[in-house]
Amino acid sequence: MKFANSILAGYGTSVFEVMSRLAIEHQSINLGQGFPDDRGPEDVLQAAADATLTKPNQYPPMMGIPELRQAVAGHAKRFYGIDVDWQSEVMVTSGATEALAACLFGLIEPGDEVALIEPLYDSYIPILRRAGAMPRLVRLTPPDWRLTRAALEAAFGPRTKLILINNPQNPAAKVFSRAELELIAEFVQRFDAYALCDEVYEHIVFDGRRHIPLMTLPGMRERSLKIGSAGKTFSLTGWKVGYVTAPAALLAPVSRCHQFLVFTTPPNLQRAVAFGLGKDDGYFDGLAQGMRDKRDRLAQGLARIGFDVLDCAGTYFINAGFQRLGFNGDDVAFCRHITTAAGVTAIPVSAFYAGPDAPATIARFCFSKQDQVLDGAVERLERHFGRR
Ligand SMILES: Cc1ncc(COP(=O)(O)O)c(C=O)c1O
Repeated sequence: MKFANSILAGYGTSVFEVMSRLAIEHQSINLGQGFPDDRGPEDVLQAAADATLTKPNQYPPMMGIPELRQAVAGHAKRFYGIDVDWQSEVMVTSGATEALAACLFGLIEPGDEVALIEPLYDSYIPILRRAGAMPRLVRLTPPDWRLTRAALEAAFGPRTKLILINNPQNPAAKVFSRAELELIAEFVQRFDAYALCDEVYEHIVFDGRRHIPLMTLPGMRERSLKIGSAGKTFSLTGWKVGYVTAPAALLAPVSRCHQFLVFTTPPNLQRAVAFGLGKDDGYFDGLAQGMRDKRDRLAQGLARIGFDVLDCAGTYFINAGFQRLGFNGDDVAFCRHITTAAGVTAIPVSAFYAGPDAPATIARFCFSKQDQVLDGAVERLERHFGRR
């Protein structure tokens, strides 16, 4: 038989899948995969139920229903002061994952280079390679994950089509500073490139920080594509509703890809997300505060056991070094070990690196879980490793 596509066939089962299966097998508390374990906001759920029963459920418009595109434009103005034309600059997608694929397939020509900041989300490289681009990696390393001019200088070149940035960043839990964003903007403009901005955690930033979309920096409005996700903003990851905001000239080719890839996204969920984006500030502040409390709860517990807990400025992940626990082995071995022997699952941070010699002494824990689940995980780890 002839071979399947060699790029995609070369990818095995993801580490998330492997660890989740192991977690089920060992009845482990799974802080590996990143999803909240609550129901999400009742009024948004009700809006979806109402829309299902009272509104059409046939194919909605390819670009998304007007109410949601208007809500995304309104959200950009309300939170970031960006003026967006909802008709030509907003498209609804089936989650941020589809938005990323549509943007990469829509913009890349075979032979282009794409600058990427690792550690990175797992869908980026397979898709951009399938689109024919060469990844050029910019490496951030713990504990400070600092972006340097030298790293960007090494990654950008005349063939750079775009840089893909994730801010706030999973798994580093990093929020890029304005100075770092200015540096990225400088390179994007110098090399006449685009910026594809995965901002799914835009509302999950802590300690008085404010999310700054790269699109708001001088000279970047015309070069940036901003991706958001209702899955993260409303703790409804299974809905897979995302949105892209981009200048019309960039969104047009992206929409061609979306048209052939999925064409559209369930209309009832779009209506509910439109309702959600209009919720008052209390909702958005409450989301960040609730997650911050959970971050602190897990961070304190892990620190008590002897983990070196790294700063977490945003997202719902926290990274912890395990070197002081007396475990001999790398992060993959450690995550397997705590799953099977302690009954708690985390993800090895090295899995988020594509290049060689990745940092291998840190595990990523997801804290968007019920308090008793977080407490249970800490208790189990404490029982296993003892308290320092
Ligand atoms: C950085 C990042 N981008 C994109 C996604 C996917 O978002 P969605 O579920 O809307 O496709 C995730 C989900 O974990 C993520 O962490």
